[in-house]
Amino acid sequence: MTTPPPTAGPTRHGPVAERLALHGLDYDVPARANRLDFMLGALTLVSLTLLAVTGIVLTQYYNPAPLAAHSSVQYIITNVPLVTFLRDVHVWSASGAMVLVFAHLAAVFWRRGFRNPREGLWWSGVLLLALLFGLSFTGTVLTGDQEAVEALAHATAGADLVGPLGVPLQEAFTPSTPLLTRLYGVHVSVLPLALVLILGLHLWLIRHLGVSAAGTERALFRSHLRPLGGFALLLVAVVGIFAIALPHGLLAPGVGGFEVTKPPWEFLWIYAAENLLGMNGMLIAPAVLFGFLAIVPISDRQPGRGATVTRVLGVTLFVILVVAIVYAALAPGQTHLGM
Ligand code: HEM
Repeated sequence: MTTPPPTAGPTRHGPVAERLALHGLDYDVPARANRLDFMLGALTLVSLTLLAVTGIVLTQYYNPAPLAAHSSVQYIITNVPLVTFLRDVHVWSASGAMVLVFAHLAAVFWRRGFRNPREGLWWSGVLLLALLFGLSFTGTVLTGDQEAVEALAHATAGADLVGPLGVPLQEAFTPSTPLLTRLYGVHVSVLPLALVLILGLHLWLIRHLGVSAAGTERALFRSHLRPLGGFALLLVAVVGIFAIALPHGLLAPGVGGFEVTKPPWEFLWIYAAENLLGMNGMLIAPAVLFGFLAIVPISDRQPGRGATVTRVLGVTLFVILVVAIVYAALAPGQTHLGM
């Protein structure tokens, strides 16, 4: 069945839609893209939007001075119920974004959506993933609680390992501004700005290269928005329920020189690597994951041995990642910094 060609025209829309140029949504896309596995990227975007909105509110209450950070979060939790809820939405949206981005990555990997001409689209996605990890890390250290202090100690120890490249992550990099305050700047300006720029590129490429859905049947992009809106509402509801049912706590103000916590779940695979390989695991594990992601569009260009090996490696890495997260969550806490 073929869909009639987009009949763009202001007369088909109401006066508001006309002024918002909504006829621009009437381009056609593969009908197959109307399914959930093609909406995971857009749902990640919904989580990012929740993060941005709730994050803006949090900046009004959070104090990035090292001695005040913890008490400002404590204040949010104990004195302003609505902002407490928005903080929990923020934290759960961050987890949601991570789950969704990995689901999106896995779906794209499985359908080989990275093949010619979409290699750049894939690589922009790899950068987005790195930025999400950066945002998650810088967010974790902001609370100034024990988990935050240990995360920061790990980061500075990791920065030591990479020599000059790690200098900006050292306390002494700019003596006038504490590291925590600088990381706050990175969390609320540098990384979001980079994310918006790379996301702009990602979406531009999707708009102009289209998605790699099989089949010849076409549908108007507008028809995609209705199921997507439904899934987005469901996502917002799930995040809201989690925020109410499982509020994110705050540990005691952090004390340096101790290692008694584990990182948030999305970093547990790195923690597992540190358990097995020592501090170098902190560099090796991300290098393996991102190194593999970077070569995927090169190693799997066309059907053949390269494609098979890439698929097997990808699935193996994914299984290792999940097993490592579960192992690190269940294994007794371990020290890595030699404290
Ligand atoms: C902030 C994170 C991300 C957002 C918001 C995002 C958004 C999107 C959206 C809206 C689409 C269109 C259809 C779909 O959802 O499949 C898409 C497609 C795509 N994304 Fe992402 N994405 C993100 C991260 C990633 C990552 C981590 C990768 C891979 C490493 C990636 C690679 C791709 C590719 C290759 C396509 C085209 C898929 C195809 O044509 O089959 N994206 N992305």
